[in-house]
Amino acid sequence: MAGILVVDDEPSMREFLKILLDKKGYSIQTAASGAEALTLLQHHPFDLIISDIRMPDLSGLALLENIKQQDLSIPVVLITAYASPEDAVLAMKNGAYDYITKPFKVDDILSVIKAALGSRQEKTQSKEADAFTGIIGNSPEMLKIYDLIQRIGPTQANILIYGESGTGKELVAQAIHQHSKVAENAFVPITCSAIPENLIESELFGHAKGSFTGAIANKTGLFELANNGSAFLDEIGELSPLIQTKLLRVLQEREFKKVGGTETIKVKVRIISATNKNLEEEVLAGRFREDLFYRLAVVPIRMPPLRERKGDVPLLVDHFLKKYSALFDKEVQQISSYALKVLMDYDFPGNVRELENIVERGVALESSNIILPESLTLSGHRTGRPADHDHSPEYDSRPMDENAFDLGLEQYITDIEKRLIKTALTRTNNSRMKAADLLKMSFRSFRYKAKKYNI
Ligand SMILES: Nc1ncnc2c1ncn2[C@@H]1O[C@H](COP(=O)(O)OP(=O)(O)OP(=O)(O)O)[C@@H](O)[C@H]1O
Ligand SMILES: [Mg+2]
Repeated sequence: MAGILVVDDEPSMREFLKILLDKKGYSIQTAASGAEALTLLQHHPFDLIISDIRMPDLSGLALLENIKQQDLSIPVVLITAYASPEDAVLAMKNGAYDYITKPFKVDDILSVIKAALGSRQEKTQSKEADAFTGIIGNSPEMLKIYDLIQRIGPTQANILIYGESGTGKELVAQAIHQHSKVAENAFVPITCSAIPENLIESELFGHAKGSFTGAIANKTGLFELANNGSAFLDEIGELSPLIQTKLLRVLQEREFKKVGGTETIKVKVRIISATNKNLEEEVLAGRFREDLFYRLAVVPIRMPPLRERKGDVPLLVDHFLKKYSALFDKEVQQISSYALKVLMDYDFPGNVRELENIVERGVALESSNIILPESLTLSGHRTGRPADHDHSPEYDSRPMDENAFDLGLEQYITDIEKRLIKTALTRTNNSRMKAADLLKMSFRSFRYKAKKYNI
């Protein structure tokens, strides 16, 4: 029997939760203050704590902090008021397992409790990361993202994913849904910027037949389609002030009407949104509603640009090589070490999407079964100094001159030396000083070699 500690200064709430949860077979203790909760914690091994945030002596957040400091692994669910969405943000930031907003439905709190108790079991059973289908990368930055997805996936918190274009925001949004408690329900994406202003309202909320010219049939909107699942609002920074206001209202009231409709539709939708804008700046500039920002970004996730996690490049290249070799029915399974070095020195302004395009084009262009530097088309600038490569021991993937094997090493090198010396002399109009310079050798060595080869 799982032990739950309910902390609230309001007797009626303690009473209500105790009766409800007792009936569900949990073992409940209550505390009327944060301080009392801490005392109880010293003597009882609870499996879960449900605490109000606003309490006179020690707030729920302070209690949470205290529990984290003691390194107790008990999940904490905080109760926040709907009027103060910033409390939810703080709760998640400070490591709450999840939060419930007052007023809540019995079903809501029961499912949060179930998820929180389940999370604990999973954690103790295996700490292994589960599969993140389709997301490649094992850099520390990506491991942090996987961790976050696992932690916040099963909660109800709205998530804002932000980062440069091509960093994988949509993949992460899908992964969050896959890790949610509603994974078997719908994940409905919408790209806010792709829909004309006058249509977006009906895309989001649907419309009733005949509500405007062109509304020839009833339309079900995103919120209805995503009911009991997740809605993915991509490029949320592009929403007009009017739509921002309407969206905020739905998030606050959890109900809406279709365009031209009379019926009130109740929905329960988890919102995952994404933007490549700096939404905080947009808020400061007055282009994005602050209250909406708080509702959407209860947990913000920053996707690091690829140049900050170059360690993922080889894995990604490998992944895309396999993908496009199969797609184009080719045998290109490898990248030469020099071509890989060129990529490692590149800054990828278009992030993973650009890397994918580069590999795709490389596979299409390559006639051998290994990607050579010549098959790479890079648009942005390289961060490495090209001169370095000439001395690099990895500079070994240029096509071999097959003559070398006929002549043997000594003879081949003599041959090359002679050709280089002659070429240098031709290019410098037979100035031995300049030719030595061109070959980056001392005049003495140059004279010695030239004499040796009778040049
Ligand atoms: N870590 C990754 N592993 C594998 N593929 C990835 C990864 N990150 C991105 N991709 C691929 O790169 C492309 C771009 O990813 P995605 O659409 O998720 O980026 P985005 O951040 O939403 O970009 P934008 O802001 O331009 O919409 C997709 O084809 C996606 O499959
Ligand atoms: Mg995207």
